[in-house]
Amino acid sequence: MRIIALLLSAVTLISLFACTKSGTSAPHDTTVEESTTLPDTTVPDTTDAETTTEEITTEEITTVEITTAEPQFPIYGEDEYTYNIDVSKYLSYIDPENDEEYLIIANRKHPLGKDYKPSNLTYVAKGQSWLLRRAAKEAFEAMRLEMQYLGVYDTYNRSTYRSYSFQNTLYNNYIERDKKRYPNLSHDEIVALVDTYSARPGTSDHQTGLTIDFDPLNESFEDLKAFAYMRDNAYKFGFILRYPKGKENITGYKYEPWHWRFVGRDAATYIYEHGITLEEYMAKKNGTEIEYFD
Ligand code: DAL
Ligand code: ZN
Repeated sequence: MRIIALLLSAVTLISLFACTKSGTSAPHDTTVEESTTLPDTTVPDTTDAETTTEEITTEEITTVEITTAEPQFPIYGEDEYTYNIDVSKYLSYIDPENDEEYLIIANRKHPLGKDYKPSNLTYVAKGQSWLLRRAAKEAFEAMRLEMQYLGVYDTYNRSTYRSYSFQNTLYNNYIERDKKRYPNLSHDEIVALVDTYSARPGTSDHQTGLTIDFDPLNESFEDLKAFAYMRDNAYKFGFILRYPKGKENITGYKYEPWHWRFVGRDAATYIYEHGITLEEYMAKKNGTEIEYFD
């Protein structure tokens, strides 16, 4: 009996020693070095204690780098926004679940084409002929009510959705007007000039049905209370300044303080906070290079 007891104690000691060894070789920091081998997840056969111990001590323990990727774009929580009016009935439009639908780029490099007509075009207000996609219309209504609450009344919407044919007429009218205005310029020079402020048919941001031009359609819009309000707050309603100053070679157009575009609140907040354009945001989102206009 004593001999058996002694033998058992010896086996126990050996096992303990072996386990301690394997324990010290196990890494404590699980974020460690890169590894090409996945750890062996085979459950050892616990019916044979000696074999198990042997396996643990001799097996090279490998680790896999576990990295929690930073989300590319943050999701902004409700408590990050403050409103003076109750926006609850507008929230599902201001902050839509399907943001992608509103992240449409329309410019000379990315035409929408002749047949593009957005869905859900809705009249901005009763008795008006201005149309917007439903989400943009509701988000604008919320922003208008907020501005009204704050006593900001010095503008109104002038131009919203424009069809391909409307833009075609508009663009060609500008060509004719500038030809008369600058008779010494060649046709190509006139086209290049008009291209800095008017979209060719099929490429207008207005054709998305997500855009609002505010009155007046010139740089004096900058002097209004409405501009000051929108510059600092429009993102809360999902709107961005589509053609900012100094970004002409990215947007393709001159600065237009009156032209605002709905993209949904998360994208608008990111664009506002980073002082970027929709083109830059989309390049970052898609992992592509920013495309520059000459
Ligand atoms: N004025 C903007 C660029 C347009 O025509 O769509
Ligand atoms: Zn516009």
